[in-house]
Amino acid sequence: MTGGGGFIGSHLCISLLKKNLEIIVLDSFINSNKKSLKRVYEISIVNNKNALPIKITKGDIRNIEEIDCLFSQSIKEGNPIEAVFHFAGLKSVRESILNPLEYWDVNVNGSINLLKTMDKYHCKTIVFSSSATIYGLSKNCLLHEDSAINPNNPYGKTKLTVENLLYDLHKKNPDKWRIANLRYFNPIGAHPSGLIGEEPKGVPNNIFPYICKVAAGIYKELKIYGDDWQTKDGTGVRDYIHVLDLADGHLAALDYLLKSKPQIINLNLGTGKETSVLELVNTFQKVNNIFIPYKITKKRVGDLPYLVANNSNAIKYLNWCPTRSLNEMCEDGWRWQMLNPNGY
Ligand code: NAD
Ligand code: UD1
Repeated sequence: MTGGGGFIGSHLCISLLKKNLEIIVLDSFINSNKKSLKRVYEISIVNNKNALPIKITKGDIRNIEEIDCLFSQSIKEGNPIEAVFHFAGLKSVRESILNPLEYWDVNVNGSINLLKTMDKYHCKTIVFSSSATIYGLSKNCLLHEDSAINPNNPYGKTKLTVENLLYDLHKKNPDKWRIANLRYFNPIGAHPSGLIGEEPKGVPNNIFPYICKVAAGIYKELKIYGDDWQTKDGTGVRDYIHVLDLADGHLAALDYLLKSKPQIINLNLGTGKETSVLELVNTFQKVNNIFIPYKITKKRVGDLPYLVANNSNAIKYLNWCPTRSLNEMCEDGWRWQMLNPNGY
């Protein structure tokens, strides 16, 4: 697993350890903390005494030798890597506009290194972390995997480029590659233990960690980016999904790939439920019994009014369905914030 120390990868590790799967994590920890994986193990061992320790390597996917080393080592140990979850990457839209070279380098060159190495060692199963940000304007309709693709920022373009590269690889070798491009909508929340969660570096760009920090008194108020969108209450509408449901979607995707014929599949991972910014704020306030001061400000450059998944393909192919409510997302996310005011 690349990027396994991060927000989504660490939650997936819990699902994998439950199944007694062996995990090797490669992470530079540029946007995460090794402690996340220590805590993953602590959580896992409580209910499963056989949970295998996670093998952790600090390394950069831009360094192909580091990736190569992991694959060759796994073969030497007689336990070759069978499949890769590829989370490692940079994910801030704002930073990607300020520093496109860095984003293309990590997200695209890093992925090329990984894919070259997988090819070399005949490991041809990959679950890739793509994003709903690759879609264009949707006119308030649910986004289907075949909806128009039109990323409007460098981050989104790097995600689309990797999807395209995976498509070309599969086309060259359709009998070998098993590829799932998972297009995430808006993952929020945290593990209910409050031991692992999202730890953004600096001021969060995304709404949920920002709300948590307003609730904690770290920031004075939330800025709501516009209340005159063509949406139900004028604020932006999104599809928030509990990070544990998203993690389960990855396990289901791996299961599906290994059971089916080689293929490439694009799947939206979302709940299909619409939540406006005001609805999110109100739910957070209600379930946590805490006041979130906010003010309406101008729209954020590059924002879209409406981004909600048609998740019927994921449900159909993966035999998966998100089950956790917005209430749980708000409760679990706030618990993580309260128990870890300074992060890990
Ligand atoms: P995250 O930043 O918490 O995790 C990414 C991990 O990759 C971090 O642990 C980071 O240290 C590591 N990493 C970064 N650059 C690296 C490099 N050069 N070499 C090795 N490791 C490196 O982010 P996340 O929220 O867990 O997201 C995981 C993936 O999902 C990312 O690829 C992201 O673009 C994608 N994604 C996330 C969201 C979201 O809202 N969180 C939405 C859509 C897609
Ligand atoms: C953003 C990125 C997207 C990326 C995703 C996950 C942009 C334009 N899009 O998506 O590419 O895949 O994060 O990392 O940055 N909002 C506020 N106040 C805030 C923050 C957000 O009102 O302080 C609103 C936004 O206008 C939006 C909603 O909250 O309507 C969700 O925003 P956010 O959490 O940033 O996610 P996305 O915009 O969906």
